[in-house]
Amino acid sequence: MKMKLCFVFGTRPEIIKMSPIIRKCIENKIPFFTIHSGQHYSHKMSRLFIDELQLPEPDHHLDIKSKAPHRQGDHTGRMMIELEEILLDERPSVVLVQGDTNTVLAGALTASKISTTKSFTGLNMKLAHVEAGLRSYDRTMPEEINRIMADHLADYLFAPTRNAKDIAISEGVKRSKVSVTGNTIIDALNHGLELGKGKKSILSKLGLKENPYMLLTLHRQENVDDRGRLQKILQGIRRIVKKHKMPVVFPMHPRTAKKLKAFGIKIPPSIRIIKPCGFIAFLQLEAGACLALSDSGGVQEESCALGVPCVTLRDSTERPETVEVGANIIAGVDPESIAAAADKMLSEKRKWKNPFGRGDSAERILKVLEKDNK
Ligand code: UD1
Ligand code: UDP
Repeated sequence: MKMKLCFVFGTRPEIIKMSPIIRKCIENKIPFFTIHSGQHYSHKMSRLFIDELQLPEPDHHLDIKSKAPHRQGDHTGRMMIELEEILLDERPSVVLVQGDTNTVLAGALTASKISTTKSFTGLNMKLAHVEAGLRSYDRTMPEEINRIMADHLADYLFAPTRNAKDIAISEGVKRSKVSVTGNTIIDALNHGLELGKGKKSILSKLGLKENPYMLLTLHRQENVDDRGRLQKILQGIRRIVKKHKMPVVFPMHPRTAKKLKAFGIKIPPSIRIIKPCGFIAFLQLEAGACLALSDSGGVQEESCALGVPCVTLRDSTERPETVEVGANIIAGVDPESIAAAADKMLSEKRKWKNPFGRGDSAERILKVLEKDNK
């Protein structure tokens, strides 16, 4: 039987990072279908990326939003119920999940549970985890739980780097299951930059072309749902603005917008809030910035690949390669540490090698799957 792939995604970064594999499937005429969990639902967090990255309409849309951060079991469970129906009906040979969200956990658990019924249903469903082997070693993060589970359930682990492969193997995952493929963010980034050519840049729209600026993103549960940490981060940013006399552009995640409102925290005018951007515009903002300040995983990778220094507003990272090459520094949330990290990254040379591959990750991933599922 010919290989049939299923892509499960639901959030902004999953759409972006799955897009190169989906596009390659179309190019190579590999049968596939897609399931959007509905985890991200605002236009600027989901639909915008499907349109911009020229992806087909999801074949199934579950419309499953999170009710509250402390109801992650409910969120994951509701997704699993609907995913199971679809997977039993569609019978894909491989289910692909990407990253570390609740959508990933739901997809991974559902596909693996179905595979245990193989002897009496004949369903031989495999699970592939794209971006495997990442660890922050901080189990207070929902993402860490999700990525550990996905790695240990997967039949195929697509590790972005050698280091990620070693981590998975050190935890007892069979070596033969793990392939180093680079990160599909590089494929997506190349595509995004290409799509942006000839289009009016967001920098001119925002009047940023002539002057230096910094870019800020924030959305992690441990940062934005915690009033004290959020305030400390903003204090740190204010210090940087005061010292370096540069504006900060802040495309704001809806979670952060909601929390700032609920906490009654006001953002000073030197931090310029804009709506979440499309991928092309965001890459332009990132590439043009003197410095990225962020708690995002994807921003750590992209800024590294674009040659832009990054200050990570977290206590840990699952992307240590960015720190090792000198592109990133883990600043925590103490205002003084954030300001010192920015000083350091602004004064150092921007000369490092991108550790996430050449932009052929989608091809490499499909090669492994095709070889094994003829
Ligand atoms: C999720 C992922 C996180 C990932 C991030 C990417 C989990 C546990 N978290 O975090 O790993 O880095 O996506 O951005 O899976 N909201 C909207 N509109 C949307 C989406 C969210 O208003 O389109 C608001 C809602 O109030 C929602 C809240 O943001 O309750 C949190 O959304 P959720 O998907 O649970 O987590 P993210 O913070 O987006
Ligand atoms: N991104 C975007 N617009 C924005 C902010 C981010 O297109 O306003 C993209 C960014 O280029 C990166 C991805 O979203 O590829 C990162 O997503 P996010 O920070 O939400 O999640 P994480 O990577 O932390 O899981």
